[in-house]
Amino acid sequence: MTDFAAVLLDRDGDGRTEARFGRLVEADLMDGNVTLAVRASAVNFKDGLAVTGRLPVVRRWPMVPGVDVAATVTGSDDPRWQPGDEVILTGWGIGETHLGGWSEKMRVSGDWLVRRPATLSPVEAMALGTAGLTVAEGLDRLHRLGLTPADGPVVVTGAAGGVGSLAVMLLAQEGWSVTAVTGRPEETERLQRLGATEVIGREPFAGAVKPLARERWAAALDTVGSAMLAHVLSMLKPGGVAIACGNAAGMDLPASVAPFILRGVSLVGVDSVRIPTARREEIWNRLADSVDRHRLAAMTRVIGLPDAIDAARRIVDGGIAGRTVVAVRDL
Ligand SMILES: NC(=O)c1ccc[n+]([C@@H]2O[C@H](COP(=O)([O-])OP(=O)(O)OC[C@H]3O[C@@H](n4cnc5c(N)ncnc54)[C@H](OP(=O)(O)O)[C@@H]3O)[C@@H](O)[C@H]2O)c1
Repeated sequence: MTDFAAVLLDRDGDGRTEARFGRLVEADLMDGNVTLAVRASAVNFKDGLAVTGRLPVVRRWPMVPGVDVAATVTGSDDPRWQPGDEVILTGWGIGETHLGGWSEKMRVSGDWLVRRPATLSPVEAMALGTAGLTVAEGLDRLHRLGLTPADGPVVVTGAAGGVGSLAVMLLAQEGWSVTAVTGRPEETERLQRLGATEVIGREPFAGAVKPLARERWAAALDTVGSAMLAHVLSMLKPGGVAIACGNAAGMDLPASVAPFILRGVSLVGVDSVRIPTARREEIWNRLADSVDRHRLAAMTRVIGLPDAIDAARRIVDGGIAGRTVVAVRDL
């Protein structure tokens, strides 16, 4: 039986996570009715949490991280999928409960797969990945609640990160005036090139959270959580909407109810892991039609599989800017 390359996570005797570049055989793959030759994956914050063990996202050992996958179908017992089909898989527990995409091969459920739009390369699909799906779902929530760029500016927190950079780009593309919040002033020019109207530091979001602060934005896309999101809520205009999609600063939310009951603010969550397949197909086709490929390429770095472990360790400390694609095979 031929073996293949993968990043493996295991626990040492003290329960600490150990990550290494290793090899698996097909018998190691998990249950599923479709086998995949993985072409590319990505480095997401959740992969960083898995590799470092900082939060218990891994619930099966050993594990292969990688919550994003662009792959070619190599075998299928599912009538919807044939060898040679080009697919995208994000979420559904891969890299958490099911072996993930930092591996040359996978076996998965055909229910989890979406056809990769022909106009998106594997690198472009993974540059978007879970992050792009999350932002697109967040934008749909804003639309469904009736918010448009005419309502006022939008703020994006954690703007230099993967989700944040994509949010700046996709919101600006829709005509929003975007305030990008970043702790990395050196990223200002890049964020402006992605379409940010204004780039500010984290200072306005420091200190005690007031129940209500000066009204600044009609909408927010928050990737940071914790006190940052609480401050953002206190600064939304009446009727404003905050999309909560991240926890880069923590899982807590030290907020008051004042923005909700005195300004009619809404807080809306996005969970990209369980977005139904039909919606995913719709989102991927829309992203393929609309995304600005030059800006996407400018925010994307491509690394090899052996370098993914180091990138995952850096992402949880805010050390990665934009999106990082992992070339699992030669692309
Ligand atoms: N809901 C979902 O389905 C979903 C999907 C994808 C990702 N996420 C979540 O979204 C978040 C971002 O993911 P990502 O892959 O974009 O990670 P990332 O590239 O590391 O971006 C996170 C950004 O947050 C900012 N940040 C980090 N620590 C902070 C702190 N203590 N205080 C304030 N800002 C801080 C940094 O931005 P600056 O350097 O610009 O300040 C950092 O670049 C993560 O929490 C991830 O789990 C959720």
